Amino acid sequence: MMKQEKTIIKIKDLQRHYKTGQVIVKALNGVSFEIKKGEFIAIMGASGSGKTTMLRILGLIDKPTKGEYTINNLNVIDLPEQERTYYRLTQLGYVFQDYALINEMDASENVYILSLMEGKSKKESILTSKQALQKVGLGDKLNRIPDQLSGGEKQRVAVARAIAKKPKILFADEPCANLDTHTSKQVLEVFRTLNKKFGQTIVMVTHEPWHTKYVSRIIKLSDGLIISDKKRRG
Ligand SMILES: Nc1ncnc2c1ncn2[C@@H]1O[C@H](COP(=O)(O)OP(=O)(O)O)[C@@H](O)[C@H]1O
Ligand SMILES: [Mg+2]
Repeated sequence: MMKQEKTIIKIKDLQRHYKTGQVIVKALNGVSFEIKKGEFIAIMGASGSGKTTMLRILGLIDKPTKGEYTINNLNVIDLPEQERTYYRLTQLGYVFQDYALINEMDASENVYILSLMEGKSKKESILTSKQALQKVGLGDKLNRIPDQLSGGEKQRVAVARAIAKKPKILFADEPCANLDTHTSKQVLEVFRTLNKKFGQTIVMVTHEPWHTKYVSRIIKLSDGLIISDKKRRG
């Protein structure tokens, strides 16, 4: 019998309304789905369809106006602020479109700084940082600063930083938006390896149709609603 993978994320009727002056923008308008452990999901949709809003809520960077969200049955919306932040920092990985690396620090330092801040020893932090950078294929560039790395390499350092803590879920918001096709492929290959070899659960926002051939499921948004949700062979 096939092993049923367990549900890791469950959202129900998620809504996020932004109020600017008298105008209310309904960026998310009632979205529900479940994500199972080990899935690699692409969230797609036109610009302004609510992708970033959704990812920021899933990544505990933002809160919904209404709706339910649990990770491994834990209600993460109602956690006290400090606990939410701690949960986000220790359990979730987030990759931004613009890498968000510290320019004065080399690749290794960019990855291990978070671990140091969490109170781990320098020795342990350096070791986990090295392992994470090896996983993304940068084991030979540990001491390069961002200026000495290509766009694809910078984004892979950002991925290493996000996976160094072995997150339950890895989120990435248009991680290839600033990359050419060749370097985009390198980054997507890293995601695929993390997913296939290490079982990493990944939720990635993208608007490039060709990126979807790397994923196992595609969720399409339009005007803050899901218009399709399809599995594919990743
Ligand atoms: N902080 C904000 N304040 C007001 N409106 C916002 C804010 N962030 C996003 N929006 C609006 O919400 C909608 C969805 O935005 P977003 O989630 O960024 O879409 P996407 O990532 O798919 O391009 C858009 O209409 C956008 O203008
Ligand atoms: Mg966006």
